[in-house]
Amino acid sequence: MGTNPLDTLGRPLHDLRISVTDRCNFRCVYCMPKEVFGKDFQFLPRAEILTFEEIERLVRIFVSLGVRKIRLTGGEPLVRRDLERLVEKLASIGDLDLTLTTNGSLLAQKARPLAEAGLRRVTVSLDSLDDATFKRMNDSDFPVAKVLAGIEAARAAGLAPIKINMVTKRAVNESSIVPMARYFKGTGMTLRFIEFMDVGSTNGWRLDDVVPAREIVAMIDREMPLEPIQAGYRGEVAARYRYKDGTGEIGVISSVTQPFCADCTRARLSADGSLYTCLFATQGHDLRALLRSGATDDEITRAITAVWTERTDRYSDLRSEETAGLRKIEMSFIGG
Ligand code: GTP
Ligand code: 5AD
Ligand code: SF4
Ligand code: SF4
Repeated sequence: MGTNPLDTLGRPLHDLRISVTDRCNFRCVYCMPKEVFGKDFQFLPRAEILTFEEIERLVRIFVSLGVRKIRLTGGEPLVRRDLERLVEKLASIGDLDLTLTTNGSLLAQKARPLAEAGLRRVTVSLDSLDDATFKRMNDSDFPVAKVLAGIEAARAAGLAPIKINMVTKRAVNESSIVPMARYFKGTGMTLRFIEFMDVGSTNGWRLDDVVPAREIVAMIDREMPLEPIQAGYRGEVAARYRYKDGTGEIGVISSVTQPFCADCTRARLSADGSLYTCLFATQGHDLRALLRSGATDDEITRAITAVWTERTDRYSDLRSEETAGLRKIEMSFIGG
């Protein structure tokens, strides 16, 4: 990876995930359960959310520290108004892998403007092709067909390679695993199965609800033979498998059964401007206060450097009875 100014314990800072809003139009059971994120839930007031100008300034600093991949997340990033304006600003910074994770619901109308603004690719979350199962996962009345139309719009706009993320939850969408694999096989899109994780404190996570990645691979392999292939890049969270008949590949993200903290090169910026060095952090580092108190770029650079070089996170490696009880930040807040 060459010299990276922020290489701590062999984990250079490479990938910055930015949550642009804590809101979402879905209520996935594993992320924003309706009992907690109901009508009375207090989302961040507008004044507390970073402006596009503030985000751009931070990204320039992160890039000077070695970041090469920017992923916009949320909440649902496409509910943030005029997101293409932010994409345009970030695209002007230079040669970055500029991408976005979306639930696809607004992609049909947003794909083209985002591509024109300089977005390179997208990852779309989709947990089933069956409307009833899809609804059991996201607790919203949204037809699968509209997400598929969004994916098609992304393809037509050239936002490729497209990845599809499917969170698997035992007895909820387990039966969708093989149909999803069949559907995306041969399309050039990479379907990735994600083990249901104990992020946040509200999704009622239990180990019994996790469908282990190796079980998913075995299910698919029985009908459509697979073989493992090499990681695409250092620190890739998905383990890759290709179809033996050459019609593409799938990925499995086994953060519960086979954690990958030793290679974790990701930092996260919440919508209100706090920096988190782990998805499972209990506390962030307030960069917004620095931005809004007139700090210079040098001062902000030093603050970020201090946070990253002192980082010891390896939550998934250590996951245990004790860590499960910690009051963790919600994924909808710091971004998937
Ligand atoms: P590519 O750049 O396309 O390879 O994307 P990616 O796999 O880095 O990112 P994506 O946002 O698609 O990650 C997929 C899922 O993996 C996330 O939604 C999380 O569920 C999980 N994940 C990503 N990063 C981490 C991490 O640092 N720790 C853990 N435990 N899980 C992660
Ligand atoms: N477990 C695993 N992945 C999750 N995501 C959100 N909550 C969870 C969870 N509890 C991820 C999924 C989704 C993205 C937006 O966030 O990958 O596609
Ligand atoms: Fe929304 Fe994505 Fe969370 Fe589902 S996983 S509630 S779509 S942010
Ligand atoms: Fe990185 Fe934390 Fe995920 Fe481990 S648990 S891979 S340290 S974000």
